[in-house]
Amino acid sequence: MSETLLEVKNLNTHFFTEHGVAPAVDGVSFRLEKGRTLGIVGESGSGKSVTSLSIMRLLQEPAGRIVDGQILFNGRDLVKLTEKEMQEIRGAHISMIFQEPMTALNPVYTVGTQIAEFSLSGRK
Ligand SMILES: Nc1ncnc2c1ncn2[C@@H]1O[C@H](COP(=O)(O)OP(=O)(O)O)[C@@H](O)[C@H]1O
Ligand SMILES: [Mg+2]
Repeated sequence: MSETLLEVKNLNTHFFTEHGVAPAVDGVSFRLEKGRTLGIVGESGSGKSVTSLSIMRLLQEPAGRIVDGQILFNGRDLVKLTEKEMQEIRGAHISMIFQEPMTALNPVYTVGTQIAEFSLSGRK
């Protein structure tokens, strides 16, 4: 039986700038089952990075804010957690490999080894 690890429900993340409000993520919903892989594909600027940063709660606040929706991780709504509670989840249970591979990944090791290392260190 499948078990939901991550469920994003009606996520809305906006940027409040001096030029107005940018609705970068506007009602995104998806579900990821345990043990499965999910790819999110879209044109540049469509909101993939902002969706990921919202899940990690790494938006540049206060300009970038989750204004609506839920991010249920093992049933817990990450939107409602304090920064201290998020710090216990970040790195240990959810990680992000950023877009610049030369700064995010070590070229000496294979990508697979580095992702496996993240997963193993998260199980400690
Ligand atoms: N710090 C920011 N301030 C204002 N708008 C932003 C900021 N970061 C991203 N955006 C806007 O949010 C939208 C989604 O961007 P992004 O998630 O980076 O797209 P993708 O990763 O799919 O290429 C774009 O319109 C982008 O200009
Ligand atoms: Mg991106």
